[in-house]
Amino acid sequence: MRAWRVHQYGDYRDVLRWEECEPPPPPSGGVRLRVAASGVNFPDILAIAGRYQVRAPLPFSPGLEAAGVVDAAGAGSRYRPGQRVVAFASWGAHADYMTAPDAAVFPIPDAMTDEHAAALTVIYQTSYFALRWRAALQPGEVLLVHGGAGGVGTSAIQLGKHMGATVIATAGSEAKLQVCRDAGADHVIHHRDADFVAVVRELTGGRGADVIYDPVGGDTFDRSTKCIAFGGRLVVIGFASGRIPDIRANRILLKNISVVGLHWGAYLDHEPDRLRRCHDALCELYAAGAFRPVLYATLPLERYPDALDALRSRDSYGKIVLTTT
Ligand SMILES: NC(=O)c1ccc[n+]([C@@H]2O[C@H](COP(=O)([O-])OP(=O)(O)OC[C@H]3O[C@@H](n4cnc5c(N)ncnc54)[C@H](OP(=O)(O)O)[C@@H]3O)[C@@H](O)[C@H]2O)c1
Repeated sequence: MRAWRVHQYGDYRDVLRWEECEPPPPPSGGVRLRVAASGVNFPDILAIAGRYQVRAPLPFSPGLEAAGVVDAAGAGSRYRPGQRVVAFASWGAHADYMTAPDAAVFPIPDAMTDEHAAALTVIYQTSYFALRWRAALQPGEVLLVHGGAGGVGTSAIQLGKHMGATVIATAGSEAKLQVCRDAGADHVIHHRDADFVAVVRELTGGRGADVIYDPVGGDTFDRSTKCIAFGGRLVVIGFASGRIPDIRANRILLKNISVVGLHWGAYLDHEPDRLRRCHDALCELYAAGAFRPVLYATLPLERYPDALDALRSRDSYGKIVLTTT
């Protein structure tokens, strides 16, 4: 099979190799799928550099998620060859074949394209878990989404609107503000030109946002505590800015706010059934037309490094998907 492989950790432009290698065997209780499309994620860059939460054993193929067809089922798997599925794993998706345990494999409805399926799992599950279960977002509440034009950001805007919130999104260029509007944001803030704290206060009559979805961290997180409503929930999604922030406990106390973490992938070990429930809910929403993944580009698998360039330079928005044919 063809695969992108990493033999030593480092910058992806230095260490990614495009190679021929043997397809992995299907694991017991899991499947091997023939990949049709794989989703590119910000953590790919960290995994290749050896700086992600779980260090992949060398050599490895990066890539967290893919859609395709079950090619071989391991002993005890509930899947059969020929079924269309999406799968996620800590690595292995940017190749012609990937493997995953059954708990991380979900059937795809006929009406869903491979490209949309490949874009569905990481970002939409993250936003669904964050907004529905971690923040308990309620209809009529105000949701502030940072990094609104990014992968998780676009999905949070779409799901937040579907849940009945008024959505304010921040982004760093006019083009990205338009992406946020197109995803359904009611208000957008150019975070380079305006102080988002002041704008959110103004838009909410001084009250602040009930829920803040933060994949950026750093100063963005620090300043978010200044425009969160009494009783608000600040959801820690990630640190795209590169700095993990600290928070002073008096800020949490004074406004009765909750700071809640979300490490979506950890549910595979702790509550795998919830991943399946989330997938089913997302498929229902997709069938009802409640959202469509925002695709910046669909590229052939061979062009993976170009996709990572677009992500790293912040030129991209939404999701980049790679296809194998
Ligand atoms: N907690 C979880 O389970 C989970 C799941 C998935 C992803 N994540 C994390 O969420 C974060 C975002 O992921 P993503 O896939 O949405 O990435 P993405 O598509 O690259 O979007 C990140 C956004 O962050 C903004 N940003 C602000 N400062 C930045 C900086 N210094 N460098 C790069 N971007 C910056 C950018 O928006 P502007 O250019 O408009 O400012 C960009 O659109 C990552 O840290 C990722 O690891 C966490």
